Amino acid sequence: MAREFDIAEIVSLPPGSSRSVEAGGQRLALVNVEGGFHVIDDVCPHRGGPLGAGFVKGCVVHCPLHGWGFDVTTGACDVRPDKPVRTYPVTIREGHVWVTLPDVSEARLPG
Ligand code: FES
Repeated sequence: MAREFDIAEIVSLPPGSSRSVEAGGQRLALVNVEGGFHVIDDVCPHRGGPLGAGFVKGCVVHCPLHGWGFDVTTGACDVRPDKPVRTYPVTIREGHVWVTLPDVSEARLPG
């Protein structure tokens, strides 16, 4: 069953920035792309770098450890197509960002 979590105030994360958050015991990366909020897994599939602490360029967040890029709209990895991250549905409500976490079996992977 899907669960919804309040993970941030909209005003706390300006466009072009990201940060790591935790919801439901899960590490997530929250990213603001030109005012649109996106949530992906925080754990980089390369060696576990915190994607929420990465560098945002356009709709791609780059891992702070070795620079792999992940499209926050699809989860696709720019250097290793076989290593995507999950994306999660986001809702904006009453000035807050809410993320919906599905059961693990329902999580969306690109492709
Ligand atoms: S840990 Fe993310 S690119 Fe190496």
